Amino acid sequence: MHEDDLLAAETAHLKEHVTAADAGADDRAVEAALRPRTLDEVIGQTRVREQLGLVLEAARQRGRTSDHVLLSGPPGLGKTTLAMIISAEMGAPLRITSGPAITHAGDLASILSGLNEGDVLFVDEIHRMSRPAEEMLYLAMEDFRVDVVIGKGPGATSIPLELPPFTLVGATTRAGLLPGPLRDRFGFTAHLEFYEADELELIVRRSAGLLDVAFTDGGAAEIASRSRGTPRIANRLLRRVRDFSQVRADGVVTHEIASQALDLYEVDPLGLDRLDRGVLDALVRRFGGGPVGISTLAVAVGEERETVEEVAEPFLVRNGFLARTPRGRVATPAAWRHLGLTPPAGVGAYLVDGSADDTLDFS
Ligand SMILES: Nc1ncnc2c1ncn2[C@@H]1O[C@H](COP(=O)(O)OP(=O)(O)OP(=O)(O)O)[C@@H](O)[C@H]1O
Ligand SMILES: [Mg+2]
Repeated sequence: MHEDDLLAAETAHLKEHVTAADAGADDRAVEAALRPRTLDEVIGQTRVREQLGLVLEAARQRGRTSDHVLLSGPPGLGKTTLAMIISAEMGAPLRITSGPAITHAGDLASILSGLNEGDVLFVDEIHRMSRPAEEMLYLAMEDFRVDVVIGKGPGATSIPLELPPFTLVGATTRAGLLPGPLRDRFGFTAHLEFYEADELELIVRRSAGLLDVAFTDGGAAEIASRSRGTPRIANRLLRRVRDFSQVRADGVVTHEIASQALDLYEVDPLGLDRLDRGVLDALVRRFGGGPVGISTLAVAVGEERETVEEVAEPFLVRNGFLARTPRGRVATPAAWRHLGLTPPAGVGAYLVDGSADDTLDFS
């Protein structure tokens, strides 16, 4: 086989997901090695770092467990990383579970009753926990107590169970889906933001150092600028560019090599991948620019609604390609232009009349 075909065959399975923000198996293996371990090692997120640093320091000074912490933000920005750092900084063991694993209140009760004083309990995807478990969690967070119900029907009795003080760290990509009472019981909520290009460049440099990848300034900058503001994507693109440079060049990641490699993987210069372009393409070409409901849009691109909503949309909204309006999603003039089309007259009016609102979840 020709060298090009070989590389294409070897990497075909990676192509599709090269800019997916969620973690694949191959990311998980390498992420453990690349995660910052202390707050000081965390790059970017300055405000969150400072706020969280204060919360933890104050708890340490008082000799108490920290307030419960909610970490919210799109995939791959560092929620799991921060949960691990909280446990490390508090010198406390970390227990890990996730919302989908807690289908019954009983599941939660058994996790909670196994906690020791000071433990950090990390509940990933906390918005996907079952309702009864959520209600049990309210009480556990506030009073360090759960009521365990034994038996069924009129004979059922509820036995209160005292819990040792612990710190709950919840992570969610959809803070809007958390019921108010649950959200209110977190003493501190960290909203993780997408990273700036210069911060991502530092992350790429750090990871390249840890992975022993030779690079030039231009190479690191090019990877950073196509990483959609997301460290996980930056780390993944770095590995793909490294492969390319090893097979096609001398192993040094230069600007030229990075840009050729990322073109091959269909990550465009602004970091849009196939899904992003697919969403914009459907919106513009099939629905005349919108407005169109998110579910319809998801069907049009053949993806789950959640994927479009949690992975593609936050990035497209933030970069001014897509707007949420009360009547549905709308392509901005920038989206038309990015696809090489001329926006029709009148597109963009909703942006100035104030009806676009990114804070509401219209669907
Ligand atoms: N601030 C940072 N500095 C350096 N590296 C980072 C930073 N934030 C995240 N990373 C890197 O990005 C990877 C993904 O981060 P993490 O797993 O914490 O994301 P997440 O928000 O938990 O994503 P998900 O929503 O998919 O669970 C980590 O392995 C880490 O290497
Ligand atoms: Mg995570």
